[in-house]
Amino acid sequence: MVCLGNICRSPLAEGILQHKADKAGLDWKVDSAGTAHYHIGEAPHMLSQKVAKMNGVDISSQQCRQFKKEDMLAFEKIYVMDSENYINVKHISRELWDENKVELLLNELHPGRNMSVPDPWYGTEEGYHKVYKMISDACEVIIQKYGASVTKGNGQH
Ligand code: 4NP
Repeated sequence: MVCLGNICRSPLAEGILQHKADKAGLDWKVDSAGTAHYHIGEAPHMLSQKVAKMNGVDISSQQCRQFKKEDMLAFEKIYVMDSENYINVKHISRELWDENKVELLLNELHPGRNMSVPDPWYGTEEGYHKVYKMISDACEVIIQKYGASVTKGNGQH
């Protein structure tokens, strides 16, 4: 899960998808990063932490890190929050860029529309609640889509 600062949106996305995957019994390792380096080592934004906690998701122990090109190899799927993140990930990844792995998160919910998860950084708590709902709805689709194929692959249904 990638955004600009790894402070507001992508920590929520990491926490939400990890929470849903754990609940569904999926052995997934979800991580997040930012394309910028402004906040390396910091915990998520207070309002991201608060809104996550209100929804039963604890993101307080996450630490901001910057996206690195090796992430392109280390992860099967990379979700970005907006098209600027997409371009930045492409630049950072250089020769390791794999277009098939990278997708705008909201394209899982609204295929082909290339919608952004808006940056709540400059706004109020309401913006964080809106962003939480968008991310959670998209992550639900991811669980249904990829979680089902994992189960099938294991011959468990
Ligand atoms: P994020 O939001 O990309 O959702 O983590 C931002 C956090 C920090 C900054 C910009 C966006 N910043 O400019 O420091």
